[in-house]
Amino acid sequence: MALYDRIGRSYRRTRVPDPRIAAAIRHALGDVGSVVNIGAGAGAYEPPETVLAVEPSRVMIDQRPAGAAPAVAAVAEALPLPDDAVDAALAVLTVHHWSDVAAGVAELRRVARRRAVFFTWWPDRVTDFWLLRDYLPAAAETDARLAGRIEELTRLLGADAKIRPVPVPHDCVDGFAAAFWRRPEAYLDPEVRAGMSVFATTDPAALADGLRRLEADVRSGAWHRAHPDLVHADSLDVGYCTVAVDL
Ligand SMILES: C[S@@+](CC[C@H](N)C(=O)[O-])C[C@H]1O[C@@H](n2cnc3c(N)ncnc32)[C@H](O)[C@@H]1O
Repeated sequence: MALYDRIGRSYRRTRVPDPRIAAAIRHALGDVGSVVNIGAGAGAYEPPETVLAVEPSRVMIDQRPAGAAPAVAAVAEALPLPDDAVDAALAVLTVHHWSDVAAGVAELRRVARRRAVFFTWWPDRVTDFWLLRDYLPAAAETDARLAGRIEELTRLLGADAKIRPVPVPHDCVDGFAAAFWRRPEAYLDPEVRAGMSVFATTDPAALADGLRRLEADVRSGAWHRAHPDLVHADSLDVGYCTVAVDL
């Protein structure tokens, strides 16, 4: 079963595209006429130029809105498109799930003529994120495992890749893993955590103690006292970035 057939059921309740992140992705894509959206999920951040969405999970495909681009159940490692079929390939928060990043990159280079754009995270910065560092080391281990694929991606793209940090706004509406950096109470909600693969793929028993400590610190005000810098910040660089490469 595809991972997101299991963990993706409430995706559209907690994973609403954030307009500021959409603008960063749009900027990285630039002026392109046709796009394949790889790991497209329910269609978040999918530009109107999209001609095909590639997504292995039927549960995710079923959550795509009416009128979205046609979707096919397939994987990045074997794109169902002929050579040079589109201007650009887009991959949003998905590379860390690919089983073979080198094959995925070779495939997107084969099908896209002009540009590839990824929205992902920069592993070093995330290990600094207070939630994983101070409360949930088991989730930090999961994150480190997933991050190997992103390091491989940047190695494969080489020096030509343009990496731009995308600071996460304090009121980010897309509930990805670090979205609630200024709203710690959100991480206590199981439905919020269920939309984040780093938690959904970590043994819940290994998270229980840290979540109890977080709840106590939020209730007592200890979390807020420990993070005066965060409480007044508007956005935070937690490692998220666009990676763009001209093909
Ligand atoms: C975090 S979701 C992101 C979905 C969407 N791009 C978004 O931003 O909302 C990751 C998606 O990658 C998909 N995925 C997992 N393995 C994949 C693979 N090998 N090739 C393409 N997509 C994959 C999952 O099924 C899931 O829908």
